[in-house]
Amino acid sequence: MRRLLLSVSGLAVLLGVVAVNALPPGTEREISQRLQPVGSVNRAAVAETAAAPAVVEPLSGDQVYDQYCSVCHAAGVGGAPLFADTGVWAPRIAKGMDVLMDSTINGIGAMPAKGTCMSCSDDELSAAVTYMVDAAQ
Ligand code: HEC
Repeated sequence: MRRLLLSVSGLAVLLGVVAVNALPPGTEREISQRLQPVGSVNRAAVAETAAAPAVVEPLSGDQVYDQYCSVCHAAGVGGAPLFADTGVWAPRIAKGMDVLMDSTINGIGAMPAKGTCMSCSDDELSAAVTYMVDAAQ
């Protein structure tokens, strides 16, 4: 971080030197004034990036279900197995978690890959499948 800041200000100084050498004398102060905001803006941007949280909290199974899966599974759209319908889910649950995860990640029949949650990690999808399976037992 400090090295980055140093190199940003170093770059500003370098640019200043190059610009000053290329232009007639007298404009030096004007140029360094113009360069000043560029240096400050860069520093602010760097600081902002560093302050942003690096890790986003993963969604829980019920959050993924509510936001993405329920669109089809709450009403059985396109033949989607109904949420919490034990009879409909039993043969699917019998296939095992690995098969259900494979269907979820790659899509199956009318269900698109990842159940439309393209930003979901495998862990988030797995939490959603577990949530749906638990509700149907
Ligand atoms: C666009 C509608 C749609 C959405 C959105 C959707 N599904 Fe599905 N899902 C289906 C349909 C339709 C099936 C049945 C497909 C078949 O067996 O032909 C299905 C089946 C499944 C199955 C059973 C797979 C199997 O191998 O039997 C699981 C598990 C599942 N969905 C999980 C999810 C999860 C988790 C999400 C959200 C991340 C999700 N679905 C979002 C339509 C959807």
